[in-house]
Amino acid sequence: MPVALVTGVTGQDGHHLTRLLISKGYQVVGVVNGQSNHRAESFSGLFPEVNLVRGDLTDFSSLIQVVGKVKPDEIYNLGAVSHVGLSFNQPELTANVTGLGTLRLLEAVRKVGLEDKVKFYQASSSEMFGKVRTTPQNELTPFHPRSPYGVAKTFAHYTCVNYRESYNMHISCGILFNHEGEFRGHEFVTRKITSSVAKIKLGKINNFSLGALSPKRDWGYAGDYVEAMWRMTQQSSPDDFVIATGKTHSVQDFLETALEVAELDTEIEKYVTFDADMKRPAEVDLLVGDSSKAKQRLDWEAKINFKELITLMVENDLRLESLSK
Ligand code: NAP
Ligand code: GDD
Repeated sequence: MPVALVTGVTGQDGHHLTRLLISKGYQVVGVVNGQSNHRAESFSGLFPEVNLVRGDLTDFSSLIQVVGKVKPDEIYNLGAVSHVGLSFNQPELTANVTGLGTLRLLEAVRKVGLEDKVKFYQASSSEMFGKVRTTPQNELTPFHPRSPYGVAKTFAHYTCVNYRESYNMHISCGILFNHEGEFRGHEFVTRKITSSVAKIKLGKINNFSLGALSPKRDWGYAGDYVEAMWRMTQQSSPDDFVIATGKTHSVQDFLETALEVAELDTEIEKYVTFDADMKRPAEVDLLVGDSSKAKQRLDWEAKINFKELITLMVENDLRLESLSK
């Protein structure tokens, strides 16, 4: 039975990837950080068969212990400070976890002598494209990150490329565009919108606030995207791949579609106020990915489209909100 070690297992992608790997017959070991982690408890409720081990991407000794003990066949490095807005307030923490954390994990693999055996997946991000130079963005598009998060991910990405070239390690980076779903954190705009729309529909609130409505993102479904992660680690030689739908929509489009799905008036002024605190010091205005390399080499393409994604999320939040007070 192959063994997969997953950092960030309690996050959105950790949930989807765990489900996929279990269905493929893997033994999954998840790394959880913190002294008392409530997300670890709810994760264990959903996936009792997963062994959770304590570790932190800022603590090299913990990573050596975990990797040395588990001796995984595959590592999926999903752990990160992943919120772009937060990264402006906590840039040093973001650099430490999201950037240096990747370096520490790779060094831990080398330290315990598994560099020739382990297949490593790195969660790179379309945020690295930032102020985009070309549209759509592909694997050859230059990086120009616009946030401490984007800078940290770019450091981690190039560290992976360097370790692949220097030590011949099997490391693949998935340059994933925004992906969402039922496990998405409420701090991200899509989940904030779908949960607020569900609350409005059920009469729990009358309105909510958002920041900029004009930024455009290439939004896909997380369940589709973890399949691409796994396909990357199965390749005979490692490489980097853009994973995206190829379609872009504004935050306003997302909001209007969510209201439409909930059969509410799509006049957004009725429900949404502007929150200046959500404004970022530098914004990424437009992202849209070209994942033709993934289609060709991994036989991967997004299955769930924009409207289907929003329908899935609104229906999920209507169900959850109708169960809670
Ligand atoms: P997420 O829901 O925010 O999950 C992040 C995970 O990282 C959580 O399990 C968190 O654990 C863990 N973590 C935070 N600090 C840590 C530390 N010091 N040591 C170990 N683990 C730590 O993120 P996601 O949406 O699943 O994304 C997964 C990965 O893909 C992230 O690296 C993200 O940056 C990247 N990515 C995401 C997207 C997207 O659209 N979702 C797109 C491109 C790339 P606790 O919360 O329990 O502390
Ligand atoms: N979070 C949030 N909250 N964003 C808002 C809000 C709000 O109230 N109002 C407007 N926005 C805008 C943000 O300014 C941004 O332009 C857009 O909505 C999307 O914000 P997020 O959902 O926070 O996602 P992100 O694009 O910044 O980052 C996500 O995608 C990256 C891949 O491109 C995260 O998942 C990153 O971890 C990931 O790498």
